[in-house]
Parts: sequence; structure tokens; C-alpha cells
Amino acid sequence: MQTIVVTGGAGYIGSHTIIELLTKTNFKVVSIDNFSNSTEAAYKRIKEITGKDFDALNFDLCDEQQIHSQLSKIKDIIGIIHFAAFKSVPESMAHPLLYYQNNLTSLNNLLKFAQEQKIMNFIFSSSCSVYGNADELPVTENTALKTAESPYGHTKQIGEDIINFVCKADPAFNAVLLRYFNPVGAHLSGNIGEFPLNRPNNLVPIITQTAVGKNSLTVFGNDFDTRDGSCIRDYIHVSDIADAHVKALYYLIEKKNKKNVSVFNLGTGNGVSVLEAISSFEKVSDKKLNYTIGSRREGDVVAVYADNSLAKKELNWTPKYSLDEMMASAWKWQQTLEKEN
Ligand code: UD1
Repeated sequence: MQTIVVTGGAGYIGSHTIIELLTKTNFKVVSIDNFSNSTEAAYKRIKEITGKDFDALNFDLCDEQQIHSQLSKIKDIIGIIHFAAFKSVPESMAHPLLYYQNNLTSLNNLLKFAQEQKIMNFIFSSSCSVYGNADELPVTENTALKTAESPYGHTKQIGEDIINFVCKADPAFNAVLLRYFNPVGAHLSGNIGEFPLNRPNNLVPIITQTAVGKNSLTVFGNDFDTRDGSCIRDYIHVSDIADAHVKALYYLIEKKNKKNVSVFNLGTGNGVSVLEAISSFEKVSDKKLNYTIGSRREGDVVAVYADNSLAKKELNWTPKYSLDEMMASAWKWQQTLEKEN
């Protein structure tokens, strides 16, 4: 049976993508996760939602020996979807070396293994943070990449460069680089969603935790040159992002790719301010949020949103969920967590 290896499969986007793979394809799935920012409960939730089973391995992808000893036993791997990475902008500002070490060593090791084993299809989690403070909005895949604002964003730029050079050196190796904008929300079942082990740094989990009294929300700056002074982002539902991975996988496997490395923006194309995101949440949850306005956060770009026409055309992908639906699903998930505790 053809197998897809998903790294970071217990994580936020990884777990939602495994759900899509198990429900929309016949591939066997093997997840690798060392639970550095996730728990095994995600696997149980995936199995409950899909009614399907998959294999899971627990090791650190920075350990090259482990990759070899554990993965060379698996037969017929036809693709790797590489999610596993550290992903916090502020944490990367405080601990840059941790980010370079973890995000780049794991990528290098995995690419080396893929090359040795002739696993020719590779999907990489990139990020809109590669654009930095872009000169033009919306950003297209051809928009010039500016200096990254954070080590996190820089590891994504370097990761893309590494894959580009590997693809140049080996024309038979195929990669898709998916530049996520701001993935938010949760599976519509309300039974799985974002589950950061520590205090979250991302806006939407902070919003939902604030609504249940478990966190407090500060808006990082209201003096930017934007329509209401707060930063602009392109929030996109995590299940839309997951769906794009399945489409990217078929794109590679069915050899529809025109070049051996393809880059796609995954966003809705709508720029939404922090204050607009908060009011959408307040509307769908019927809860007033207590928040304060604070100073700007180091490493934040002012505004970024996607031109997603290339992904629509090439991958035949269309994001389905509105901002209100994203917020409602995140809220449903938070309420599930509340019931469980
Ligand atoms: C960044 C990356 C994104 C990546 C994500 C992973 C950029 C432009 N985007 O998202 O590609 O997927 O990290 O973590 O670098 N905010 C507040 N108060 C809070 C938290 C956030 O006001 O307590 C604001 C931020 O200033 C920002 C927006 O909310 O304007 C979204 O922040 P966040 O959810 O942390 O994501 P990004 O940093 O945009």
C-alpha cells in the first residue's frame, strides 16, 4: 500500500491533514511526532473522528540515525509531508539558535533520507513570513522576499532555499512549498483543534482562552498604518489548509507539476485586522472580550495577505470557510476543551 509520511502529525495542521488523508484518500499514513508541542491525545481524536487507524512513530527528526532506522523499514513511501517545526515568532526572537538548529537540521535530515531512498515527492510547510514586510499587497508567489522579520521566518526562507537547490541538483525530485498565511479555526466536529502545550502566542487561541477566562488578550499595537491601526493578516481555516495538502500531493503524484519545485500561497486573499478578528469572534460567540491595547510585538510584520489565484488554478483548490466560520469553529473547540476539564 502506498504510504505517506506526515511529520508533525500530532500538531495543529498535521493532525487536520491526517484527517483529510484518511477520509479522502486510500494512502496508508505514518505520522512522526516527538510531542514537543503536542500530545498523543491528537491521535486518539483523529481516530475517533475518522474511524480509521494509522501508524505513529515518536522520535526527533534532528536525529539522523533514528530517521534511518525507523523509516527505512517502511515500504512504499511515495511522499513526505513535512510539518514538524517550531513555529512561534516571539519564541524565535528570544531563542534564535533553537529555531535554526531544530527547523533546519530536521529538514536537512529528512531531505537526505528522501534522496537516498528515492522518495520523490515532498511537501514543505512554508509561511507567509518569508515575504517579510512586502512591497506590494496582496503578495503573489513572485513578490520579492524581503528580509525576514524573525528567525522563525528566516528558517522558512532558508528551508525554501535548501529545497530549491536540492530540486535543482536532482531534476527527478519534486517539491511543493506551501506558504501558509494565518491558519486558524478547528475541525467542524469540534473534536480536534489547536492545542498548544504552553501559553499560546497566536491570536485565535488567545482569543478563545480569554473568552473562558483562561488568558488575557492584548492587541499588539493600534498605531500601524492600517485602516484601524492594528496589524492585517490573512486568516485561513485549518481544514482549508489541510485540503490543500491533499491536492498538492495528488498534483505531485499525478505529475501535474510544471516545474520540479512549485510554490503556492495558501490564504483566503482577505486582509483582516486584529480588531476585526476580535469583533468576528464576539459576534459568533455572543461574548464581549475584555482586551487591552498594548505596544507593538517585536518581529511582527504590519500587513500581509495573499493573492491565492495560483493555488486555485494549479491545485484546483478553493478555501471554503469565512472568517465567522473560522472563529465559530475555534470557539466550538475551546468549548469541547472546557467540557473535558
Ligand atoms: C506568524 C506568521 C505565520 C505563521 C505563524 C505561526 C507572519 C506574518 N506570519 O503569524 O505565517 O503561520 O506565525 O505561529 O509572520 N496578536 C495580538 N495579540 C496577541 C497575539 C497576536 O494582537 O496576543 C496579533 C499579532 O500582532 C498579529 C496577529 O495578531 O498581528 C496574528 O498574530 P499570530 O496569531 O501570532 O500570528 P502571526 O505572528 O501573524
